[in-house]
Amino acid sequence: MTERPLPDAWQNAELPGDLPPLGADVIGTFTDTIYGHTPPGGQLTDLVLQSREDGVLDGAADRLRHRAVIACPLGNLELDLLTHLPTGGAPAPVFVVLSFTGIEETLEGEQARRWPYAAIARAGYAVLTVDYRQIEPDDPAATAAGVRALFPTTDGEPWGAVAAWAWGLSRCLDAAGHIEGIDPVTAIAVGHSRLGKAALWAGVQDERFAVTVSNDSGCCGASLFRHPGGEDIAAITSRFPHWFVPSFTAYAGREDKLAVDQHQLLASIAPRRVYVCSAEDDAWADPVGEYLAVVAARPAFGADGIGYHVRPGGHDLIEEDWLQILDFVRR
Ligand code: GCU
Repeated sequence: MTERPLPDAWQNAELPGDLPPLGADVIGTFTDTIYGHTPPGGQLTDLVLQSREDGVLDGAADRLRHRAVIACPLGNLELDLLTHLPTGGAPAPVFVVLSFTGIEETLEGEQARRWPYAAIARAGYAVLTVDYRQIEPDDPAATAAGVRALFPTTDGEPWGAVAAWAWGLSRCLDAAGHIEGIDPVTAIAVGHSRLGKAALWAGVQDERFAVTVSNDSGCCGASLFRHPGGEDIAAITSRFPHWFVPSFTAYAGREDKLAVDQHQLLASIAPRRVYVCSAEDDAWADPVGEYLAVVAARPAFGADGIGYHVRPGGHDLIEEDWLQILDFVRR
């Protein structure tokens, strides 16, 4: 896949003048201000193979379904995992990707275009996915149904749903380590949109992810708060208050008062690798702000440590994104 050039109109895009510098340890600030503290605990206790179909997708992949049981302090969380392994050959590196839909719908539902399993398998990679709502419901009112209800409440602010989904990516990686045919040493966290925010937070926190990929993750994902355009803190906290710590709303309309910005989140993953994907017409995610975050984070990485592409079109995860991601991961 050849690299796509930047759109002409972006050539003059400038970094905001007041970006906080790289170099400081800012993970604690991101924790306290935006995503919340992820409590320790959550142990994979059981991984039961439910079904196995060999040679699906014209022989490209073996398809496995597992039920994972994760013991948490106040009860068990059960997750249904769908894994595609490239057929034959050595243990494969694995993409760990949360799904917006049930796992069966990734095969033929409305969002199946986001899951080019055959192309990924032919490239020699495994994919493991779980429906993100099994980890934590995406609902400001659903306080009792997800993993956050399985941990005792603490004095500080509760962790947000984005952090809960990030925790789920790590538990999926725990499970991947027990699936024959996966080499968990090369694990890649991938997420689209709100799940791209979760993938980045997982990449920051879990050093087992060798590569972290954000697709169209926008506000509180890869895009800079201080670059105007698209969603801002007022918009995101009024519609999705459950994603973050409650006090994050205090920064609505006060982006300049935040101690951090998102290029520092990307840089926190270095020296492990990061790849950011944008779509030109995805104005709500502020693709220029995502690009500038990569530019500002670049000094924290080695030559090939951080990569970026923007493709024509709107908010989506399509095969072209996957092919660019595969190119980056292989490099
Ligand atoms: C909304 C939200 C975004 C989010 C997106 C998605 O548009 O405002 O922050 O990334 O949903 O997850 O699709």
